[in-house]
Amino acid sequence: MSVIAAYSGTFDPITLGHHDIIHRAARMFPRLIVAVGLNPSKNPKFTLDERIALVQASCKDLPNVQVKGFSGLVVDFARDNGVTVLVRGVRTVGDVDYEKQMAVMNRDLYPSLDTVMLAPSPKYDHLSSSLVRELASLGAPVSRFVPKPVLPILLERFGRARKRKA
Ligand code: COA
Repeated sequence: MSVIAAYSGTFDPITLGHHDIIHRAARMFPRLIVAVGLNPSKNPKFTLDERIALVQASCKDLPNVQVKGFSGLVVDFARDNGVTVLVRGVRTVGDVDYEKQMAVMNRDLYPSLDTVMLAPSPKYDHLSSSLVRELASLGAPVSRFVPKPVLPILLERFGRARKRKA
């Protein structure tokens, strides 16, 4: 039976750090679903449809990657989609405790689901979606941090000092 893995997150928006994890996971698993969480508690700045479309546009070159939205528990998404491996990115030591807690809780809720933690390239350790939005809103160059399809909508939505080079 071939394993179906899911990489879950809010992706508000997808960054090159996320993209790096997706590439690595797509090499490891025959099927990878990028599970984009509605996550209303985080008050995402892009709609769920926009976030899904940006992940799709950024992963066009990966035939074994599918993108789906979800709301509610990630374990319910896993159960409904035949997912047995959850992929998470661990950037710094600070991420580890939190990720371990989530991994154990998710396995408690759904024992068939294990979590695999992948380290992104160190050049993306300092990235987060909110940091990228903040940089864009303050006119800093952001093209090094997001996949190409994200740049226009990011600048249109948050870009301020357009005089600076993106
Ligand atoms: N590269 C760059 N940035 C990364 C990254 C990477 N490899 N990995 C994480 N990040 C960033 C994210 O962009 C995010 O930044 P932001 O806070 O500025 O938006 C931040 O790190 C936190 O990411 P993450 O831990 O993946 O949280 P998330 O909010 O994106 O996603 C869910 C969290 C949706 C996966 C999680 O809340 C969930 O599973 N929710 C469903 C409800 C549920 O089942 N809860 C019980 C869990 S036990």
